[in-house]
Amino acid sequence: MRIGIVGASGAVGAEIIKILEERKFKVSSLSLFGSKRSAGKYLSFKKRKIRIQELKKESLKNFDLIFFSAGSDISKKFAHIATSSGAVVIDNSSAFRMDPEVPLIIPEINSKDIEKMGKNIIANPNCTTVISLMAIKPLLNLSPIKRVVATSFQSVSGAGARGIRELIENIEYSLKKGKKFKNIVFEKEIAFNVIPKIGNITSNLYSEEEMKLHNESRKILVDNKINFTATTVRVPVLRSHSISLNIEFNNNVAMENIIKALKKFPGLKVMNSSKNNTYPTPIDATNSDDCIVGRIRDDFTVKNGIALWVVGDQIRKGAALNAVQIAEFL
Ligand SMILES: NC(=O)c1ccc[n+]([C@@H]2O[C@H](COP(=O)([O-])OP(=O)(O)OC[C@H]3O[C@@H](n4cnc5c(N)ncnc54)[C@H](OP(=O)(O)O)[C@@H]3O)[C@@H](O)[C@H]2O)c1
Repeated sequence: MRIGIVGASGAVGAEIIKILEERKFKVSSLSLFGSKRSAGKYLSFKKRKIRIQELKKESLKNFDLIFFSAGSDISKKFAHIATSSGAVVIDNSSAFRMDPEVPLIIPEINSKDIEKMGKNIIANPNCTTVISLMAIKPLLNLSPIKRVVATSFQSVSGAGARGIRELIENIEYSLKKGKKFKNIVFEKEIAFNVIPKIGNITSNLYSEEEMKLHNESRKILVDNKINFTATTVRVPVLRSHSISLNIEFNNNVAMENIIKALKKFPGLKVMNSSKNNTYPTPIDATNSDDCIVGRIRDDFTVKNGIALWVVGDQIRKGAALNAVQIAEFL
């Protein structure tokens, strides 16, 4: 396949290159695109150095598949140019996620929806949505779910390569100087702090990130009755997101069946015991393809409720790996 990656120098783009190589994806040619800033730099694929080209309208001809990973403005401007030249686009941004003609895919959950592709574009869901649904889908197979209360603990790499740099600089600066750091990527200092807002605040006072979890989940699960209420929080963790999920089922489900269903679900591991500190942390999920669940317990305050904790590498399963898995299905 003739493959292109737009945003190859970014956190997600660089991971796509790595995963294509790891999974021995059939690549006959690989072209890498970025802005003027990275044009001319080289990245390696299968021991070959590939030069990053500046993205231009005429760049996107003669491809079978192009991964877009450069933000929604770039996807909106260039994805249709790529598809009208014959390529299928797998888009990591939010540009087309809620478009009814664009399937929103987590392969373990709704790979069949790929067939509904109307515009030669497939969207990758928001990273917090992917990781949350990897734990929720096996449970939804046991009973309809009324409501999910989600609190996310999202790493700085969710804001891209610049987010990683800002956390490290902020920590170094604070330790050395003991003065206020001038934050750019995050709205407040992220070192030794947490920021309870990701994305802009919408008309109902939820943030965009919080509404993505509700809206995208309903589309992926084809379930307009399930409700998600979320608080999404940026935390000073380099990589992998964690989400606390409080789930209220319509019916009574035995804990034994819950654990069984989670253990059986592809792409999900269970690390759950009250003994020996057996629960997952973001470091356990980093560089791993699997999401990991733990701290699974009955919610004694509500009928048919449970609480659990799920972690996942959001650059891999929340973006790059999920995109390559979609390409494999294609
Ligand atoms: N990071 C995550 O955990 C995550 C998870 C899920 C989805 N996503 C989505 O994936 C996309 C990429 O995120 P990221 O975290 O990889 O961001 P990033 O590290 O900031 O990388 C952004 C990439 O876009 C390129 N770019 C920016 N402006 C461009 C332009 N005008 N023309 C061509 N290329 C341009 C950058 O190239 P230069 O180096 O040349 O600037 C860079 O390669 C975003 O839509 C994001 O919402 C990210």
